[in-house]
Amino acid sequence: MKPLGVVTRGTTNPNRLRRVDNWIVETCGDALRAAADPLVVDLGYGATPITAVELRARLAAGVRADVRVVGLEIDPVRVAAAQPAADPPGLTFARGGFELAGLRPALVRAFNVLRQYDEGEVAAVWRTVTERLAPGGLLVEGTCDELGRLGSWVLLDAAGPQTLTLAAKLTTLESPAQLAERLPKALIHRNVPGEPIHDLLRALESAWQSAAGYAPFGPRQRWLETVKSLKQDWPVLTRPRRLRHGELTVPWPTIAPT
Ligand SMILES: C[S@@+](CC[C@H](N)C(=O)[O-])C[C@H]1O[C@@H](n2cnc3c(N)ncnc32)[C@H](O)[C@@H]1O
Repeated sequence: MKPLGVVTRGTTNPNRLRRVDNWIVETCGDALRAAADPLVVDLGYGATPITAVELRARLAAGVRADVRVVGLEIDPVRVAAAQPAADPPGLTFARGGFELAGLRPALVRAFNVLRQYDEGEVAAVWRTVTERLAPGGLLVEGTCDELGRLGSWVLLDAAGPQTLTLAAKLTTLESPAQLAERLPKALIHRNVPGEPIHDLLRALESAWQSAAGYAPFGPRQRWLETVKSLKQDWPVLTRPRRLRHGELTVPWPTIAPT
């Protein structure tokens, strides 16, 4: 089976994906607990396998101890380099692309992979991956900065995209407008007037500015107030426990590109 896709830059960092991993544990945990086979694919793990190692550890501790993570990389050199980190059966590495090397996982995390593809390729990639999921399976596809302080991701199932989540480390966040640079590929070129994602980011920024009076109580209080005010006009799905982590989740149809 020829891997689908192309080799791209392998930039990665320890702990870079902790925000999305913690969100996955909480939001996708039930689906993974219910899965007949707790198989998870980390698609495009990069120059070192560290974020796959961390994903396995977080899922094993927070969801189920028998989780099996397979790191798939399209670059054979990176697959060979990752082998010393393998710990079968819980963590293995193999060559593969969007076809998932024939696997039928319950969950796929694909982070900072589509960034280097064209926007026009995203829908087909989403379909290729979601068609291969196990029944009830989920895909989490997104982007973050090098240290994982700003990120965003789309949750998809077999029916297509379901939600968009924006996430920021609140202690270093200057303004939610910074999230614009870290939107998923499907949205990053759509942050222009007339597009719903542009409206959302403007509304978020405006709510953040209006909540400036809460800054002395700390960025978390300011964020809680920001989201409270945003909720007047936007359907916010963020779980109460995730709000304090600087997250905002909205239904995909509210920000889908026109
Ligand atoms: C920027 S790195 C991301 C590493 C890690 N996921 C992270 O977020 O830190 C992107 C990796 O995805 C790989 N990649 C690109 N297209 C792929 C595909 N279709 N299937 C598997 N891996 C792919 C590249 O070879 C590269 O190593």
